[in-house]
Amino acid sequence: MKKTKVGIVGYGTIGKRVAEAVRLQDDMELVGVVFRRLNTNALTAQIQGIPIYLSDINLNDDFLQVDIEPLGDIKDLLENVSIIVDCTPRGQAEKNLLLYREYNVSVILQGGESERLGVTYNSFINTTDVKNETLIRVASCNTTGIVRILHALLQVFDIKHVFVTLVRCGTDPDKSSKGIVNGLSITTDKSHHANDVNLLLPDIEIYTKAVAAPMTHGHLLIFSIDIDREYHSEGVKKRFAEHPRIQLLPQKYSQSTSSIEQSYSHRKRGDRPFVIILEDSIEVVGQKLYFMASIHMESIVVPETIDSIRAKFSNLMAEEIIYKTDKALGINKGMESYQVK
Ligand SMILES: NC(=O)c1ccc[n+]([C@@H]2O[C@H](COP(=O)([O-])OP(=O)(O)OC[C@H]3O[C@@H](n4cnc5c(N)ncnc54)[C@H](OP(=O)(O)O)[C@@H]3O)[C@@H](O)[C@H]2O)c1
Repeated sequence: MKKTKVGIVGYGTIGKRVAEAVRLQDDMELVGVVFRRLNTNALTAQIQGIPIYLSDINLNDDFLQVDIEPLGDIKDLLENVSIIVDCTPRGQAEKNLLLYREYNVSVILQGGESERLGVTYNSFINTTDVKNETLIRVASCNTTGIVRILHALLQVFDIKHVFVTLVRCGTDPDKSSKGIVNGLSITTDKSHHANDVNLLLPDIEIYTKAVAAPMTHGHLLIFSIDIDREYHSEGVKKRFAEHPRIQLLPQKYSQSTSSIEQSYSHRKRGDRPFVIILEDSIEVVGQKLYFMASIHMESIVVPETIDSIRAKFSNLMAEEIIYKTDKALGINKGMESYQVK
């Protein structure tokens, strides 16, 4: 099987997870990762046998001093890959786009980048539309989660209106120096998530509000959805249970964000690349559907990032692409769940 040659620029929260996931795919090869300085992540990458490249070859001596032998600079990597997944912090990828274009490689961007740079992607919505795109932007963590949820529900009923309150983590666990220490940080305006969802689901009427809380274990989203008819909560649970990349968590494990996190501590780093629906929060009152969801911001976009690479370079159908990724990541459901409409 011909493998897609993948390069990653930026090996932080998202980059290290994408690198690991690429290495689990039988149709992809991780050619290398670009670093801009020597840090603990570079040492970890070295231990894992990941080929290391530098944003600037002048950094070479720093790396040699700790017995890491970089294989070259970013241009050397670009000569040997078909696609770059740029996982640098918000705004940085845009600065590299000219270079990527010069080497004629396709680029996957993450959700921190502006939506004007590339087509916004979610596996359940536009996998078959991005084959000819050279710049694909995987939607942000919350948008990815909300779109998966709405995709699941749209197969059961029409949605009249969606309101989501997002209680966001102040920051990631490894960036606690940036976090707030007390109280909630409040944005009174509509949050950007609604517009981002509408890039993928333009017909959905959605409004979102967000606050940031002093926590790092995953965002908590509270949904209130107007549906087109009276329905029953068991049907909603069944739909979520069947849908790929969504898991139901029973009440006894979901009394706090810490207990949600603990419920998945057996997974590597506690990663939860699936949306977690708090099962007992699901309630239907007439034509109103209420529930809560937990979103692990650090890992939820990893499956979609892998799909987006495959969407460009394979001839598989959308449902086969999603299934293949889920199987490789060990999060797959039965084949019958992968009927992507
Ligand atoms: N973290 C999340 O929860 C999350 C969720 C969904 C989407 N995203 C999006 O994913 C993207 C990456 O975010 P992140 O949280 O993974 O950031 P991060 O943890 O700060 O990692 C970014 C990494 O990129 C490196 N870097 C910066 N400039 C570079 C350059 N020019 N060349 C090579 N490496 C460079 C940084 O190196 P240094 O260590 O030297 O700074 C850092 O290791 C952003 O668009 C973000 O919005 C993040």
